[in-house]
Amino acid sequence: MFPIQRPRRLRSHPQLRRMVQENALATHDLIYPLFAVPGEGFAKEVKSMPGVFQLSVDKIVEDAKEVYDLGIPAIILFGIPSDKDVDATGAWHDHGIVQVAATAVKEAVPDLIVIVDTCLCEYTSHGHCGYLEIGDLTGRVLNDPTLELLKKTAVSQVKAGADIIAPSGMMDGFVQAIRAGLDEAGYQDIPILSYAAKYASSYYGPFRDAAESTPQFGDRRTYQMNPANGREALKEIELDIAEGADMLMVKPALAYMDIIWRVKQATNLPIAAYNVSGEYSMIKAAALNGWVDEQRVVMETLVGFKRAGADLILTYHAKDAARWLA
Ligand code: PBG
Ligand code: ZN
Repeated sequence: MFPIQRPRRLRSHPQLRRMVQENALATHDLIYPLFAVPGEGFAKEVKSMPGVFQLSVDKIVEDAKEVYDLGIPAIILFGIPSDKDVDATGAWHDHGIVQVAATAVKEAVPDLIVIVDTCLCEYTSHGHCGYLEIGDLTGRVLNDPTLELLKKTAVSQVKAGADIIAPSGMMDGFVQAIRAGLDEAGYQDIPILSYAAKYASSYYGPFRDAAESTPQFGDRRTYQMNPANGREALKEIELDIAEGADMLMVKPALAYMDIIWRVKQATNLPIAAYNVSGEYSMIKAAALNGWVDEQRVVMETLVGFKRAGADLILTYHAKDAARWLA
């Protein structure tokens, strides 16, 4: 029998296609990452991330204004300190680079939401996300002592103006520790966006150029997740919810669409997908070679994250995407 159902009927006219479209990317879904460095009038393009810059605070403020004018609701700030040490002093110091940047942005663009990444790897001399045993050359981060530093870091970031805290170090119990620290300091209304399911991924390579946070030895496999695991992501999000997380992140995004989907099915909290540096660099490289149409590939990728279940997308493409959406 000739098919009664002809799906092409609903694809026959552009307006009809619009009417039955299931998902859409909106500018308010986007979060733009920015890298703050000391100095003034400083902008240095990250070699492996064309279009992404390390910026001094005055330049961060200019970019933040542009982001706000484009209708993007939030940025996420990373800091690259002038000095690194084993105690990650630059992470929790009240005049640390990310604190100074957060204060300056909030002053200049009060309505832009400032998320701050709460981790120690940009600030430790060895590049790991927490304390190491003295003499450790494998990168086995000490979990519980690290929690104290994260707590202190988060409180100082909020004191400086951060609207949302985003802990990314994959320490056990970090959401609970930070929640307690914020509450004790009187910041019970500051939400935590937890990097809940964060994998030990090679896709972070270009970010580590940008943030100068490559581990000096060892790797992050004793704290970040094994890319072969799916169920474990559900365990991680369950724990973070119990500890008080307000939003959950899956990272990376492109090779982990199934995880975004499964997390979405498992919780009613908002889900953020981090379209990480390596994913950005691959598209950029292909586009610069003329091998793919950048705009179309980016927009297809971003709506794919929405279809998978992401409510929010952290992406280096955010400013371009906002322009293309306008
Ligand atoms: C720090 C952190 C990383 C990213 C975000 N926060 C790097 C890492 O874990 O090494 C990666 C972001 C990206 O690749 O764009 N813990
Ligand atoms: Zn880290």
